[in-house]
Amino acid sequence: MTFDYFMYKGIRFTVQFHSEEILRFIENEFHVLDDDIYNVTYHKSGTHWMGEILNLIKHRGDPTECNTVPVLRRTAWYEANTSISNVENLESPRIITSHVPLHIFTKTAFQSKAKVIYTMRNPKDIFVSLIYFNRMLKCYKETKFQDFLEDFLHGNVLYGSWFDHVKGWMQMAGNENFFYITYEELKQDLRGSVMRICKFLGKELNDEEIDSVVKHSSFDAMKENKMSNGILFPEELLDNTKGSLIRKGICGDWKNHFTVAQSEFFDQVYQEKMKDVNVKFPWEE
Ligand code: A3P
Repeated sequence: MTFDYFMYKGIRFTVQFHSEEILRFIENEFHVLDDDIYNVTYHKSGTHWMGEILNLIKHRGDPTECNTVPVLRRTAWYEANTSISNVENLESPRIITSHVPLHIFTKTAFQSKAKVIYTMRNPKDIFVSLIYFNRMLKCYKETKFQDFLEDFLHGNVLYGSWFDHVKGWMQMAGNENFFYITYEELKQDLRGSVMRICKFLGKELNDEEIDSVVKHSSFDAMKENKMSNGILFPEELLDNTKGSLIRKGICGDWKNHFTVAQSEFFDQVYQEKMKDVNVKFPWEE
């Protein structure tokens, strides 16, 4: 055990960020607005990157809000405790972040016109990113790499199994209000990805505006931007001296951390768990 976990509908959450009451509320009572945009991920998949892109698209490439308002005040992490979440104060269209699996997401969301963007990433890179991020969390006690790897592959971690998360959400593929993309596609072609996201959202931006979205959501711009990288959680939760959320921003950093045996073990579990998924992900190539 590393966090102080509790279970909700088969998924691990932690008391430092969540409560059963809020989870029940977002699942059953949260009031979805037709123009809401939900930025959904398994954590460490590029949530903040997508949040920044959506913020910039909302403001037609104008970076003023991104440069002056802390990230959690311009998007809201809706399943988090009220000290972190910020749904009430968001300006329409609301950009709402979530890491919950589909079976805990607001039941009525897909009966509305709200749009959901689901970003996925190579789970080996997620795993490495998580190790670094967890070190910044004051409530987290680090475990050995191998132990954490096994916990991750068995879903005994915050937000549960990556495999179940992806398989759950991918059931929405084909729904007109659901769009999925990968971190790897964003890396490979950010401009093209931004254009696809605009199309899904029904937002027509001119070339200059798109260029500005791309410029201000680049890794370097976001790493420099204290409103995106520096101010995240309250000080009692996160120690900014222990690392940075916007850390390395590459595909394949797992190669610097996994042994051959660990990578093969991961692949074996991956193949077994993903055998029924007929989407080809960039990291499988
Ligand atoms: P690394 O730790 O591998 O560098 P999340 O926002 O879901 O918590 O994901 C954090 C990961 O996204 C971190 O990965 C971070 O560096 C990366 N990231 C954030 N902004 C990015 C950007 N503009 N370009 C590339 N990667 C970015």
